[in-house]
Amino acid sequence: MKEILILLLIVLGTCKFPKKFEFGVSTAAFQIEGAWLADNKSLSIWDNLAHSGLVVANSTDPDIGDDSYNKYLEDIALMKDYGIKNYRMSIAWTRIVPNGTNGSRVNQKGIDHYKKLFRDLTRAGITPYVTLYHNDMPAYLYIQGTGYTDPDFIEDFKYYADVCFKEFGDLVKYWFTFNEPWVLAVLDEYTPEEVMTKPYDIGHALLLAHAHTVKLYREKYQNQQKGKIGWVFNAEMYFPKDVNKKEDVEAAERALMFQLDWFCEPMFSGDYPQKMKEIINADGKGRMKSFTEAEKNLLKGSMDFYALNHYFTWLAEPARKTGAGFDYDRNVNLTFDSNWNQTDMEWSIVPEGLHRLIMYIHGKWLNNTNMELFITENGAAIKNESDINSIKIDKARIEYLHGYLGAVEEAIIKGVNITKYFVWSLLDNFEWGSGFSKKFGIVRVELDKNAKRIAKGSMKWYSELIKDLL
Ligand code: BGC
Repeated sequence: MKEILILLLIVLGTCKFPKKFEFGVSTAAFQIEGAWLADNKSLSIWDNLAHSGLVVANSTDPDIGDDSYNKYLEDIALMKDYGIKNYRMSIAWTRIVPNGTNGSRVNQKGIDHYKKLFRDLTRAGITPYVTLYHNDMPAYLYIQGTGYTDPDFIEDFKYYADVCFKEFGDLVKYWFTFNEPWVLAVLDEYTPEEVMTKPYDIGHALLLAHAHTVKLYREKYQNQQKGKIGWVFNAEMYFPKDVNKKEDVEAAERALMFQLDWFCEPMFSGDYPQKMKEIINADGKGRMKSFTEAEKNLLKGSMDFYALNHYFTWLAEPARKTGAGFDYDRNVNLTFDSNWNQTDMEWSIVPEGLHRLIMYIHGKWLNNTNMELFITENGAAIKNESDINSIKIDKARIEYLHGYLGAVEEAIIKGVNITKYFVWSLLDNFEWGSGFSKKFGIVRVELDKNAKRIAKGSMKWYSELIKDLL
């Protein structure tokens, strides 16, 4: 208790967040909803992956999981009680257009569910921020075609997005097309042959699907609905392992270019970073596709805000690897400083990394624009959560959040237009390949049929922080 009070005093005493700054929490459908067969939902690629037993210890866990599909009113009540007024969530494509394809059957029960959810959030004074795609592709689409790189993918995704804009756009004013395109393109099991081009082809397909969806929203809905649309980038920060070594400095720059600039630069200039194209196409095989002039125009300016997910920092040096493909093109070896603390994901805790990343984004793209920057995910998985007392205090998570919020605050003081920050996550949830073993929630969820919610110390701390600013 004493520790919480001390941390509270530190934060309250030094707070420089503007009064209109928005604090929120973030979640994603597959990670919290459960109800895997409810109301005509189809199976997603993650339902299948989880059930294959290849990636998760207890493969049936996400079937019910946090059961937010049925318990969303409890989640809303919790947010309301704790003064959280901004909720980032995602819609499950499998609930809206079960087989995923363009022109196929729309599921009224899925639409009714999210309509109720958005209405109840709005009634509780909570603004929804909605991601259309957070990893859970309808399995049918994946099995029938080739996933993101399928020639029909853009039309399939636009069809689903169109239903969402039409049905929910009166209540949803913040849309994100895809969560973390880099993760979708890079974090997969690739054969040595696939890794030569597949990450770049997926990246290319996602960039175009994003831009076409934004065009659709702008042409058909934005004027009446008055919402905003963008997508969510993810980036770690990369410090040169030895700041005095030019090759380490360049490795750190290259690592960020191969993660963030890859997807970000086309939003501003309409094309990939020149250096990245040169590296990948140096072998003369044309592995990185080009955009047509029409596509460049479509990409340029295709977001109304800049949204970033960030968790940790690496030290970078050249990899000196031989081989071919994404890792070879990027050519970086990534390690942590032995002095850095780590979370239960074994990710480093370096608030300075977030600060420098924000300043990089500001300096490179946002300076001289009035585009808002949102931190759409930031948070920590913390160990030893079986002990109820440590949950009530939740010191390590509070320290993490305090540090990273400090990094945001410092950037605001330097003039960066950051307007929103979302903690990942509201609830302990399904952490993909790690199942429910990694605990990111500021609310604990008991993994039994009742899926009981218990606010952690960090939830109380966050609530006080928000209250102070209102
Ligand atoms: C993803 C979340 C995930 C979190 C922690 C982000 O990359 O958007 O779905 O749970 O990181 O790993």
